[in-house]
Amino acid sequence: MSIIIKSKPILIFIIIGIFFTGCADENESDISDEDSELALELWSELDGYINWQQHSDFTGIVQSSSVHGDYVQIWLNETAMLGIDSGGYSLPLSSIIVKEGYPDSTGNNVNNVTVMKKITEYDSENNDWFWASYKSSGEINDAGKINNCISCHNPGKDYILFVDW
Ligand code: HEC
Repeated sequence: MSIIIKSKPILIFIIIGIFFTGCADENESDISDEDSELALELWSELDGYINWQQHSDFTGIVQSSSVHGDYVQIWLNETAMLGIDSGGYSLPLSSIIVKEGYPDSTGNNVNNVTVMKKITEYDSENNDWFWASYKSSGEINDAGKINNCISCHNPGKDYILFVDW
């Protein structure tokens, strides 16, 4: 009997532990394992993006009225740049576009780093874009086939809004 009473607090700790672990898992499960992995890989691919090319119509920190911030800055990897320069409708697979959003024109504070990458057969209904949002530290806010991103970007040529080509 005394063993049962003594173990009660332990039992409570275990129950609380399970409860909190359960909650943490629930939050994470919004992003599938596959999408988390893709988002991690993508973040390492982004290494050094601030030295990537920018479009001549959208260079440096630009004022914006989008959800991304009052000011934004956009970089493209070589594949995306070549795709836009070639004038075709769709950007090639492995195209990556990165965008930083800022609350002001200094660019010192980054709201979020939002990214789109075209991945083979990732989402054939929506031109195979993989969407991701990170904190500037690389922590993942969201990743995958994010409806919010897709529906707002849908009217753009190949889902791209900052430029028409
Ligand atoms: C309510 C509309 C809206 C939503 C939601 C939205 N965006 Fe955008 N996004 C824009 C606009 C407008 C631009 C064009 C640049 C600008 O004016 O800031 C843009 C630009 C971008 C760009 C640069 C390439 C391009 O398409 O112009 C990326 C990358 C991007 N957004 C990623 C995302 C991601 C990832 C999400 C979801 C987490 C997202 N966006 C959600 C409106 C939106």
